[in-house]
Amino acid sequence: MSTWDLSTVQHHVLICNGGSCLKNSGDETTLAIRDEISKHGAEHFIHTTRTRCNGRCQDAGVVTVYPQGIWYKEMTPEAGRRLVREHLLEGKPLQEHMTYSFEERFVPTGNGNEGISRIQSK
Ligand code: FES
Repeated sequence: MSTWDLSTVQHHVLICNGGSCLKNSGDETTLAIRDEISKHGAEHFIHTTRTRCNGRCQDAGVVTVYPQGIWYKEMTPEAGRRLVREHLLEGKPLQEHMTYSFEERFVPTGNGNEGISRIQSK
């Protein structure tokens, strides 16, 4: 899926295709998200990118949505389809899958695995 003109894009969806996420249906989730976008004719304002590991493997499958800065965990093909319909088309993020939202910095929602603090790990 190539995008030369980004001027109509409102959402950039990064779908983790690192090893842990691929073991948790990352490829199937990618295809489901892209299929749902196509079904709704929304390719002009939703751009998707497969990524390598996003560093939150315990939350696999990980999907992030920008510019809102929302991180999702445990995404499945069906959750991916809901992400397109409910979050990207209707503006209602999937609360039960959200791990972080962005409010001048990333703020944990309390749903995600704790992970390792960057400050403590140095
Ligand atoms: S493989 Fe997806 S967060 Fe690590």
